[in-house]
Amino acid sequence: MDSFIVTGAGSGLGREIALLLAKEGWDVLLAGRTLDKLLLVKEEIKASGGSAAALQLDVANPESLQEKLERALEGKNVRGLVNNAGVGHFGPFRKMDNAQIFELFQVNALGTIYMTKAVLPYLQQAESCYVVNIISTAGLRGKANESVYAASKFAVRGFTESLQKEYEGSGIKFTAAYMGGMDTPFWEGSEHVADSSKFMLPLDVARRIVEGLGEKEIIIERQK
Ligand SMILES: NC(=O)c1ccc[n+]([C@@H]2O[C@H](COP(=O)([O-])OP(=O)(O)OC[C@H]3O[C@@H](n4cnc5c(N)ncnc54)[C@H](OP(=O)(O)O)[C@@H]3O)[C@@H](O)[C@H]2O)c1
Repeated sequence: MDSFIVTGAGSGLGREIALLLAKEGWDVLLAGRTLDKLLLVKEEIKASGGSAAALQLDVANPESLQEKLERALEGKNVRGLVNNAGVGHFGPFRKMDNAQIFELFQVNALGTIYMTKAVLPYLQQAESCYVVNIISTAGLRGKANESVYAASKFAVRGFTESLQKEYEGSGIKFTAAYMGGMDTPFWEGSEHVADSSKFMLPLDVARRIVEGLGEKEIIIERQK
């Protein structure tokens, strides 16, 4: 059975992508910081006859993720990675503190880069495989009160577009996925978006992403 790794798979968009991939017959490695959330998703997949494993890791910690992935991926035929884990800090730029700025780049930008670097050697053993980077429409255009979040997502856009060129003609397809607001735990306790209930359902976004595996760019704008 071929395996797909999904980061941030314990909630929101990552969870929906993991459930859909499992339904399509992939073995899914559910990665994220909070093991309890990953185990619930794993149980859901197993209960519907799918295959999954949970791996607690911090995408912002390159040394430990390398070691954990080595152990978890032994014997697996890895054919995909979804870099979905992400954090959001929003508000006027002058009010952003350095810890927030650091975390946005550590998780959103460096986390994606570290994970891709760690997983690429496994992907290169497969004939055709996928890396999907979950960005945001904040990676397409800047927005007021989203300055550093947008900067971190623009970084992922540059990374993805560059790898598309570098790996052109190889079996590895890199997808840049840009989506508008989704109704997920991302907005819990946020003053920037007090009510996310009118946003897109993460399941709808996940469907489009899973259908679009291999496409260079997927843009899912917010429904009005
Ligand atoms: N919601 C939106 O409106 C929206 C719009 C456009 C793009 N996005 C992007 O979509 C992605 C998924 O977000 P979501 O909306 O589904 O929110 P979410 O439910 O908060 O999911 C984010 C996931 O990332 C995990 N995560 C955070 N930091 C991590 C780290 N250092 N290492 C490993 N896992 C980590 C979280 O797990 P733990 O809690 O266990 O850390 C969580 O499960 C993010 O990249 C976000 O930027 C969201």
